[in-house]
Amino acid sequence: MQERLQKILSQAGVASRRESETIILAGRVAVNGTVVTELGTKADPDTDTITLDGKPITVTEQRVYLLLYKPVGYMTTMKDPEGRPIVTDLLKGIKERVYPVGRLDYNTEGLLLLTNDGAFANMLMHPSHEVDKGYLVRVSGHVAPEQIRKLSEGVKLEDGMTAPAKVLPVSESENNSWISITIHEGRYRQVRRMCEAVGLNVVRLKRSRYDFLEIGDMKPGEFRHLDAVEVAKLRRKTVPSGTGRGPRKTGVVARRKSAPRR
Ligand code: URA
Repeated sequence: MQERLQKILSQAGVASRRESETIILAGRVAVNGTVVTELGTKADPDTDTITLDGKPITVTEQRVYLLLYKPVGYMTTMKDPEGRPIVTDLLKGIKERVYPVGRLDYNTEGLLLLTNDGAFANMLMHPSHEVDKGYLVRVSGHVAPEQIRKLSEGVKLEDGMTAPAKVLPVSESENNSWISITIHEGRYRQVRRMCEAVGLNVVRLKRSRYDFLEIGDMKPGEFRHLDAVEVAKLRRKTVPSGTGRGPRKTGVVARRKSAPRR
């Protein structure tokens, strides 16, 4: 079946769909020997020979789903022009070409999913799926109840208001405070910008949760495979709404009919 090249590349685990567009524009992809730089171009992975940097890509790779504790000081891109470490450097023993589901800043640590299942990653990253992401934030000094209230209600950033967030004080010492912030949006440097907007100086930022997945007591640099149940639970989130199988938009709790009492 004919598909857009960027979709084929992401399904083959080459990169996310957006990164695949950059790869195509860079002239690194050819279809049947002809370099293609037009983003709308379609091809059929079953009948066309599609190459990346001259090497044929295959769409039948074993699917891999990983949960990594990203340390501070790693990029979540697949290459860094400045030569800084990238998260995939940490995945010793993983031969599949996985890439991150979304991004974390160079100076942010914590839970990062990686996969070579492009369709799955794209669906999880789609704003309509509203996956909750939980962050622990250490800020300088004390946090006023007014700052917590503003963060919770939504703050004005250059790219618009943020959606309401769940914000709770966690602990406080003489010089620093920890707060937890749960958001479902995924804008660029969102948590840092939200904190700045209410006058808080972020000194450490750690993603501790991605939907039901927790970083727990993992150490920076450690990773594990998701188990089949975890993948299935995440996959359920990625079923488009309207099919009767996807996440409900209304917040109505589904109830199973109870068996008749005897
Ligand atoms: N918000 C940020 O500010 N940075 C991240 O890395 C993730 C969320």
